[in-house]
Amino acid sequence: MAKLLGIGNATLDIIHLVDSYPKENDEMRCRERYVRRGGNAANTLVVLGQLGVACSWAGTLVDNEDGALIRDDLLSHGVDTGYCHYVEYGSVPVSSILVNSRSGSRTIIHYRDLPEYAALDFESVDLAPFDWLHFEGRNVGDTRQMLERARKLCPAVPVSIEIEKPRDGIDSLFAYADVLLFSRAYGEALGYRDPLALLHAVQEQFPHALLFCAWGDAGAAALDRQGKACLHDAVVPGVVVDTLGAGDTFNAGVISAGLDGLDAEASLARGCHLAGKKCGQPGFDHLGPATQAVP
Ligand code: FRU
Repeated sequence: MAKLLGIGNATLDIIHLVDSYPKENDEMRCRERYVRRGGNAANTLVVLGQLGVACSWAGTLVDNEDGALIRDDLLSHGVDTGYCHYVEYGSVPVSSILVNSRSGSRTIIHYRDLPEYAALDFESVDLAPFDWLHFEGRNVGDTRQMLERARKLCPAVPVSIEIEKPRDGIDSLFAYADVLLFSRAYGEALGYRDPLALLHAVQEQFPHALLFCAWGDAGAAALDRQGKACLHDAVVPGVVVDTLGAGDTFNAGVISAGLDGLDAEASLARGCHLAGKKCGQPGFDHLGPATQAVP
């Protein structure tokens, strides 16, 4: 079984399922309310676990009830939390989320005062057991140091980086990646109107990396190292129930395909199918191959 270490965020998601998006200063009831573990890296690992990858998570947590909910959820999904760094103060990152039951759209208000997982925490992680390292592109200075260490100690182990938001200096991480996973939000923030335009621009500067970008209901794109571009339509379920973490799920599909040795086109297809399946259901369970034919 392939082993993967994911470095990034786990959050407490307080999800309100509403029948319409509220207006400012409105008062409304929600149809349902759930408290769940979230976070980009953690979501990706929970899905990868269902695809047969043995996952470990490296991130920060607080030793309180909320931290325990997050840790227990990861453990119950078979994700090892042994590299997690406990911080003695603050709260876990919390997202207050509205999911619109009519469209599946998700609106996230995120609160964070917890220190990020630091290069110093990463120093003691033995990288030898891992076949793949996946990083969330955040906390740029420390992430760069972690990437430098990973490249020095295990240069042959594939590294993927999720680039979700524009952050100061984020492109200084690109040179360390074998696989870059961009979001639509990142592309749009840079002024791109379609995923391939973003990927072509990135490839001019970083030709060594395999590039992917999910563009929500407009599908997704990949660009391989030889410059071959692929597009895939969004896989739309009968009813779009919940798009929260669809991008994280897409990333899990692409990474698992990479571990299986699939090419860019097949990886893109797996990412799109898995993300589509996720949008048709709440949460991140039941995404493994036993419940769906994922290419
Ligand atoms: C979804 C998600 C949520 C989390 C938020 C953090 O992609 O990871 O689970 O609250 O994004 O930005």
